[in-house]
Amino acid sequence: MEERVIAIAADHGGYELKEIIKKHLDANGIKYVDFGTDSSASCDYPSYARPACNAVQNGECEYAILVCGTGIGMSLVANKCRGIRAACCSDTFSVRMTRLHNNANALCLGARVIGAGLALDMVDLFLNTEFEGDRHQRRIDLVAEIEAAGK
Ligand code: RB5
Repeated sequence: MEERVIAIAADHGGYELKEIIKKHLDANGIKYVDFGTDSSASCDYPSYARPACNAVQNGECEYAILVCGTGIGMSLVANKCRGIRAACCSDTFSVRMTRLHNNANALCLGARVIGAGLALDMVDLFLNTEFEGDRHQRRIDLVAEIEAAGK
């Protein structure tokens, strides 16, 4: 089996949590590509979410983990990228369900909303829960139709 690679990105609001997640991925032997930012200096979240999502779109990475203050800005950007299904989550139930039912390929976290311990549990769950397919695929196909039409 091919080794999985995760795209990770944050703005200044998510920088510290991104570094904690990277350590966790390192400890678990999971590869990632870090798309920045590389400090807590103020920056613009679209500039970091976009290349991370592009890496998922082009197959370089399997999933994106995107962190900002709320997770919302990152999810807005990610869901503008064709084929990206981003879920902004603050609880493990939603993380599990968005993998099972939405086949989400981007997890957006709010570093000012949740603690690091919960965030790491959510990352693990996101990376280890398989999509259920079946009727859920039909619904995802309908979402893709809307994406293609732009309305
Ligand atoms: C930055 O202050 C903050 O707006 C950003 O991290 C994010 O929460 C936006 O959605």
